[in-house]
Amino acid sequence: MANEQTEKLFSEILDRRILKKAVYSKAADKAVTKLVISPFRRADGSIMLSAESFCGDNKAIRKNLPCDPAELVRPALEGFRQVNIFTTAGDLELRRSKSGSVHISGKLAPDAGEAEVASHDEHKNYIIDPSRDAGFLRELGLADRSGRIHDKKQAKFRQINRFLEIIRDVESELPSDRPPVICDLCCGKSYLTFAVYYYFTALKKREVRMYGVDLKADVIEFCNEAAARQGFSQLKFVSGNINEYTPPEKPDMVISLHACDIATDIVLYNAVRWGAGVILSTPCCHHEMSKQLSQKNDSAPMRDGLSFILGCSMTKQKFCDAATDALRVKRLSSCGYDVSTLELIDPDETPKNLMIRAVLDPKKSAETCARELEEYRGICAGLGVAPYLDRLFKNEV
Ligand SMILES: C[S@@+](CC[C@H](N)C(=O)[O-])C[C@H]1O[C@@H](n2cnc3c(N)ncnc32)[C@H](O)[C@@H]1O
Repeated sequence: MANEQTEKLFSEILDRRILKKAVYSKAADKAVTKLVISPFRRADGSIMLSAESFCGDNKAIRKNLPCDPAELVRPALEGFRQVNIFTTAGDLELRRSKSGSVHISGKLAPDAGEAEVASHDEHKNYIIDPSRDAGFLRELGLADRSGRIHDKKQAKFRQINRFLEIIRDVESELPSDRPPVICDLCCGKSYLTFAVYYYFTALKKREVRMYGVDLKADVIEFCNEAAARQGFSQLKFVSGNINEYTPPEKPDMVISLHACDIATDIVLYNAVRWGAGVILSTPCCHHEMSKQLSQKNDSAPMRDGLSFILGCSMTKQKFCDAATDALRVKRLSSCGYDVSTLELIDPDETPKNLMIRAVLDPKKSAETCARELEEYRGICAGLGVAPYLDRLFKNEV
């Protein structure tokens, strides 16, 4: 009976293509604490299931399964006592008692649309293959000896791989007649810095010279030692404030992942004044604009029209996040860059997932840049804000 009921449910969910994911918990075997099964699309368009098992020792193992209800039913009836099923037709919870009876709470709405299915690329075809590239991943504590990415590092691993995909897309903008110079500002533990160096030197067989900069002296010391152990001879780390940093040679590309608050403005300002051809920056938290908007300003005409957003602290913060980055985009654009914003990773994973991608456009005219700067200043005046990035350019900070 429990079998039939469960099979019927999962068959319906797969037939209607409404499954987002099924999360199995309350495991009988304590070695595997959780199992997440979600559909994905292969390169040939067919749909399969991806099963990720999370183990007690911080490891995650991923397996591809046929898109068959039996694959969803089996762990529900054997290994796990609870399944939370997320579908476009509503969320359900399946609980199995010790005696084996199954109780399902929630109902599937009759007329839901199909779930969006991620492509195979998003699931497995990472640029960094942990089984092949285990050396530096292990060195940094991202993976174990066999190349399994630790459970807690999965999100970081996905971020750096996605960042690499974006680098791959702009690679042709880097000089081809000499080793490109790359700076990672606010590099922290430097997962990204190592991955970028590895990408160019080991995977693309291309020399690069890289510099990572961060305030944390002990972390930088570790990174220099780790680079030496890995034989990454052209990867150097410097401890210090990026505000005072001068690279030993002109960078062709400046990258930055989650530089806190106005540190992102310093990254962008440095990249522009150093004449970097490519800038890739994913900002972190935003605090500056919210403070400025809290100060009274009677000569900021745009504020009245925005009072319905600024009057509520949550919508105000969301507005400040978006406006800060939109103004950064505009300011960079006024410096001669062709600028776009991309989603770094799934927004469910982190809200800090916006990537600013700027490529210097030598054809952009001084008049266009001047007009963009005027527009930018008009928006700042309308809002009554003075963004840190602009104050850096004006030498006001
Ligand atoms: C959120 S962490 C991100 C680290 C790394 N990029 C990553 O994504 O894993 C931000 C880092 O920025 C560094 N940082 C913040 N302000 C800085 C500054 N003015 N100069 C240098 N480093 C700074 C911090 O020390 C910290 O390591």
